[in-house]
Amino acid sequence: MNQSSTRIADLKHHVGAVVTVRAWVTHLRSKGKVAFVVARDGTGILQAVLVKSEVPEASWNAFAELTQEASVALTGEVRADGRAPGGFEMGVQTLEVIGTSPNDYPIQPKEHGIDFLLDNRAFWLRSQRQVAIMRVRHELEQAVHDFFYARDFTRCDTPILTAAIGERAGLFSTDYFDEGTAYLAQTGQLYGEALAAAMGRIYTFGPTFRAEKSKTRRHLTEFWMIEPEMAWYDQDDNMDLQEDFVRYLVERVLERRPEELKVLERDTSKLDCVSQPFVRLDYSDAVKLAQGKGSSIVWGDDLGAPDEALIVDEYQRPVFVVNYPKEAKAFYMKENPLDTRTVRCADLLAPEGRGEIIGGSQREDDYDKILARLTHEGLPVEAYGWYLDLRKYGTFTHSGFGLGLERTVAWICGVEHIREVIAFPRMMGRISP
Ligand code: 4AD
Ligand code: MG
Repeated sequence: MNQSSTRIADLKHHVGAVVTVRAWVTHLRSKGKVAFVVARDGTGILQAVLVKSEVPEASWNAFAELTQEASVALTGEVRADGRAPGGFEMGVQTLEVIGTSPNDYPIQPKEHGIDFLLDNRAFWLRSQRQVAIMRVRHELEQAVHDFFYARDFTRCDTPILTAAIGERAGLFSTDYFDEGTAYLAQTGQLYGEALAAAMGRIYTFGPTFRAEKSKTRRHLTEFWMIEPEMAWYDQDDNMDLQEDFVRYLVERVLERRPEELKVLERDTSKLDCVSQPFVRLDYSDAVKLAQGKGSSIVWGDDLGAPDEALIVDEYQRPVFVVNYPKEAKAFYMKENPLDTRTVRCADLLAPEGRGEIIGGSQREDDYDKILARLTHEGLPVEAYGWYLDLRKYGTFTHSGFGLGLERTVAWICGVEHIREVIAFPRMMGRISP
């Protein structure tokens, strides 16, 4: 069946030829003996023209029955036409209805509320804007793999059901046979550290889960994270890699997805800032900067979204905030030898008020220190035996980071809320569709 139909994106290779396009109807128009069908197939938009005297009666009658989102097979001659949406027009020879669509298709060309759109996500995804977002997301996913493949990192898949808790965020849990409670992974990092000792440089790319009771525009309960882990990298090497990585991702989308960014009305000049060196700002200086701009943050607090916005606003390009207080961060971060109140970590804040897109650190490689942190955090030490042993059998300097895919897609696309950049978002208060 596929051999005999042509995707709209490929029509440019078929000008002058007769082809069949299978697609869904978006708009209908007729003037007397001429009728227009605009259809989409996920690769583009096609305007098809039917002239009553030139099509079989069955096709002309089929047009009269068409409704929005009916699926059709259109056969006819392809013409280049600068005025047509999509740039091509088809002079229809036959129109066949494949699937009718009742005249109450939920998504109409008007403003809908966000809850309505999310309830109808399965259909909302068909809109041009949503397709553009999904394509940018896809480009980024491929870019992630290309970036690490070119650098000889090994991709490793880590478990989703785990016993060892990685982060402080909320946990989803389930009964696991006779083994007690299993958690849905908040991170693949701890396994990534074991894999880095086996393979040198690795990355994971998988779904992660957090029972976050935060209804913000940057929190999902299920999101995708890319987590590289590198043996023999210190925190400076780690940040250098992150900088190269983020620059590569942005430039890749600018280069390969200009059409999608146009659909999204993205002001791409705002993304050019990634070509400059990223700022590296000490946490203490970041706090002072935010305080100077009116924030009530005090030394010791994690930065809130408003603080992050104030800090990035000062530089208008990505900012690493480095060396956070120990108490504000996870147990596995390496104590900073120059100021033991802090850890060798960085959050990367994206411009335009997007906030943290990466959290990363050098890992504590001292057995006693990490054991003390685990105990201090009240974590079940027995679940971390294998993890602690990485510090016992050939401990090694190592670092890594986690880039949140949805926050990155949202920033690059200029989409306000990350619920729009994942096909079927999971958030507090939403598990369907
Ligand atoms: O800063 P986080 O919690 O770091 C970790 O999970 C580390 N284990 C990463 C590592 O070093 N291997 O999360 C990393 C990133 C954040 O910067 C953010 O982009 C994203 O994951 N993220 C979320 N994205 C959407 N919804 C949420 N609830 C998120 N929580 C974190
Ligand atoms: Mg973080």
